[in-house]
Amino acid sequence: MELNNKFSYNTYQMPSFTASGRTVVNALGEMMHRNDTSLFRSDLGNWDKFAKFLYDKYQNTDKVNFYILSSSAGDEGYSVIMKLLQKYGEDGAKKFFPIIASDYDSKIISVAQKGYLPMYDGEDDLINSHTGGKFNEYFEKVSKIPDFIKEMDLEFDFLTKVKPVLRDKIKFHTADATEECHLLKPDNSIVMARNFWPYLKDESKRIKFADDLYKTLGDNSAVVLGKFDDTSGAFASKNLQDSGFICNPEIYTVFEKGVPVTADCLSYYIR
Ligand SMILES: C[S@@+](CC[C@H](N)C(=O)[O-])C[C@H]1O[C@@H](n2cnc3c(N)ncnc32)[C@H](O)[C@@H]1O
Repeated sequence: MELNNKFSYNTYQMPSFTASGRTVVNALGEMMHRNDTSLFRSDLGNWDKFAKFLYDKYQNTDKVNFYILSSSAGDEGYSVIMKLLQKYGEDGAKKFFPIIASDYDSKIISVAQKGYLPMYDGEDDLINSHTGGKFNEYFEKVSKIPDFIKEMDLEFDFLTKVKPVLRDKIKFHTADATEECHLLKPDNSIVMARNFWPYLKDESKRIKFADDLYKTLGDNSAVVLGKFDDTSGAFASKNLQDSGFICNPEIYTVFEKGVPVTADCLSYYIR
């Protein structure tokens, strides 16, 4: 089957289930990107299964290099940390930390660096359901919204401050993913680069980004995509597979380097 790789941006296909969102426009008023993100974002699939995959893949490895490119406010990083802690405890999870998270949007990174995390109503319950009731151990609701956040037009229901037990396990900095991808450590690296590929606005950029990831990464490494990276029409899963990554047959959002080929994966995305 032939994939249509012509990308056209369709707002109706934008991710809709978000904890915080913000539209960023350029000087001409054209939309550059949105910061939409949420904790335990459902497009990853089963977060317990994902954590088990990480734990099993690296059971014989002392240190895992964990990167998040296009992190937005940090929801994916905090979700990974909470899930690994819940399943494997401080000792079992510590080789994955600190997670190195970046986004090219310096404003959303400044929110994360200062330890704030915007949430939507009900997200506290979601956290409790994933962690055995640890919302208050990990987060504190903030009653006074800082001026720099008020000025950002960030959409959220309530604001939290992340407690050190989580905050100390992730480092945030501002970086463009297309440059940051050259700086990744090659082996034993997990790279979450999710729900941002459509913002690389022509296919040659997405092909180059996939090729650069493949060239930079080495043994026992993998890239993790989001659903928006395909449903938007960007077809990042095809770009990664064309570069040589192998889709994990159990978790279709994970693309590995240096594992045996199976036929199952691409068919999942094109059916
Ligand atoms: C829709 S959000 C996705 C956030 C998060 N990865 C997730 O899946 O929940 C897209 C993010 O990608 C960021 N972004 C877009 N292009 C980027 C680039 N070239 N380098 C780094 N970040 C980028 C935006 O600033 C925005 O925060």
